[in-house]
Amino acid sequence: MTKKLSEAIVSLKNDKNAVILAHYYQAPEIQDIADYVGDSLGLSQKAAETNADIIVFAGVHFMAETAKILNPTKKVLIPDLNAGCSLADSCLPGPFAELVEAYPDHMVITYINCSAEIKAMSDIVCTSSNALKIVNSIPAEVPIIFAPDKNLGKYIQKKTGRALLLWDGSCIVHEAFSIDKLVNLYKEHPGSKIIAHPESETHILDTANYIGSTAGMIGYVKKYPSEKFIVATEAGILHKMRQEVPKATLIPAPAQEDNTCACSECAYMKLNTLQKLYNCLRDDTPQIQVSEKIRIQALKPIERMLELSK
Ligand code: 13P
Ligand code: SF4
Repeated sequence: MTKKLSEAIVSLKNDKNAVILAHYYQAPEIQDIADYVGDSLGLSQKAAETNADIIVFAGVHFMAETAKILNPTKKVLIPDLNAGCSLADSCLPGPFAELVEAYPDHMVITYINCSAEIKAMSDIVCTSSNALKIVNSIPAEVPIIFAPDKNLGKYIQKKTGRALLLWDGSCIVHEAFSIDKLVNLYKEHPGSKIIAHPESETHILDTANYIGSTAGMIGYVKKYPSEKFIVATEAGILHKMRQEVPKATLIPAPAQEDNTCACSECAYMKLNTLQKLYNCLRDDTPQIQVSEKIRIQALKPIERMLELSK
């Protein structure tokens, strides 16, 4: 069934000159039929350079919306329009506008996990793979608002020694990790390397041998292809990691709540299925729409990020 559906998707994709971009947190069968699988920065870069007529974005809404901002004349489809993000939801335009207005001398750096309206109020967008570089590109005397992820913000504060004005948002998936269970797991696997995404809380990051974006984490395990890793990010990443380092032992970091996977999964990311992907490509819906006024304002900070990431 999965094979038939995958073949039907590839055939439709070729007929319609579409490209499928997928995030590492997508289900394995979606990653396996994608033209490109990557982190938020890599996916934005691919979206910026594609010649396809249609972009099918197998990820969450803010990612597909970023692709639409970069490609106003292309159709941008998402398998499930309800694939949101707790970070994007934490930062609504009204309260964010009040903050920005209250601190007019501050530069506004926003993590890409936010809506087009929030990007439109920003000076530069960043992702977890370039946040450090982007904050460091701003002169030390310029104060910065950093939104919406307070955990990534705290990590950047620690790395740069700069005080950032932080928005109080977080990722429910990365805040689900249990430090007590992680410590016990490490005791069972002494010598394993702990790798963590910077959306995780400080006490988790403090245990890590490596901290980085999803692409960064994959790059790190590739340096030690036969070792043992405890992986503190969404469990979907394990699929690509297993393909890249089949001899490594990969153990997902445990969540506080006992659940079926004994890991942390993003329910938003997992709303996308192969069937929904097929349907959206067949029917050209759901499509991402962004008003032209917001799009033009949101484009500038995204382009600034892409420029600074070259
Ligand atoms: P990256 O893939 O850019 O590291 O982001 C992780 C994430 O949580 C995306 O929603
Ligand atoms: Fe948002 Fe977290 Fe899910 Fe990424 S993993 S989409 S940051 S809720």
